[in-house]
Amino acid sequence: MSSFLEDVITGLKAPQKSLSSKYFYDEKGSRIFQEIMNLEEYYLPKCELEILENSSGNILDEIPFKELDIIELGAGDGSKTVIFLEEAVKSGKHINYIPLDISGEILEVNRDLVKARIPGLDVQVLAGDYLKTIFQLKERKQARLLLFMGSNIGNFPGESAIEFIRFINDFLSPGDFFLMGVDLKKNPHVIRAAYNDSKGVTKKFNINLLERINRELEGDFDLDSFEHYGVYNPLTGSALSFLVSLKTQKVKIGENEITFDQYETIHTEISQKYSLKDLDKIASKTGFEWDKHFTDEKGYYSLSLFRK
Ligand SMILES: C[S@@+](CC[C@H](N)C(=O)[O-])C[C@H]1O[C@@H](n2cnc3c(N)ncnc32)[C@H](O)[C@@H]1O
Repeated sequence: MSSFLEDVITGLKAPQKSLSSKYFYDEKGSRIFQEIMNLEEYYLPKCELEILENSSGNILDEIPFKELDIIELGAGDGSKTVIFLEEAVKSGKHINYIPLDISGEILEVNRDLVKARIPGLDVQVLAGDYLKTIFQLKERKQARLLLFMGSNIGNFPGESAIEFIRFINDFLSPGDFFLMGVDLKKNPHVIRAAYNDSKGVTKKFNINLLERINRELEGDFDLDSFEHYGVYNPLTGSALSFLVSLKTQKVKIGENEITFDQYETIHTEISQKYSLKDLDKIASKTGFEWDKHFTDEKGYYSLSLFRK
């Protein structure tokens, strides 16, 4: 059984049905995600960009090293990071940029984009699961700044976010830095709208997960009988996405049959929001001695810098 099929069947046979958000990103899903990034309501990338444009210099001022490895986990196309790299080079630092991503194709795009903007920069791409490939960098003697952008930490549920940051802390040496993009707690209406856009693009993105199962795993989901539901709970700071079965139904996925009660839900994604105080607590819980936050003008988003 492929791991996609195995994960889908395990998730849909559990008492609370769920599908992992990592399966959103097939070719069609990645295209729809680009549409989400451009939505009026989806403020996250715009805020991160604003901070990079206004505060990259201030962030770099906190980092005393002249020679620096900048290692980026889940780097994607590098289109935002390049702003930071340009500022780093301008400040006179000698940088090695090492983007890590599970997608070899996106790393090619990243390298071409960064090399076109900063021709002299040393770029060394590393394809594969960063939880494994990062250890190839362990022996390098250079001081490090590790980047984890795009509010990706929000997709780690509960304690697993803390475990992930602890993993990063274990990898780093004393004195190294970690810069993380984090979506902050704010007016709940603003968050709710980001996951329930008026054009229905988020719905299309969620439904594509069922379409992908139909395409790749011989599924027969009736797409019209599932609805997208996005909700934000200000008590927990979690934005959750669900697919809701609008009727009692049976769905075939290859040899498997899954039954749905009317209004039964499939949990598809968590996007956890944090306050700056939450982040200070996380820093001390995960072994970082110092942290400082750089926010956009509205205070919606933070690039938080931690030092081991
Ligand atoms: C939502 S994109 C964010 C890209 C970029 N950091 C940004 O802020 O625009 C997440 C990226 O992480 C990569 N990714 C997800 N899980 C990964 C893993 N375990 N190892 C390596 N890359 C991963 C994906 O391929 C994708 O390019």
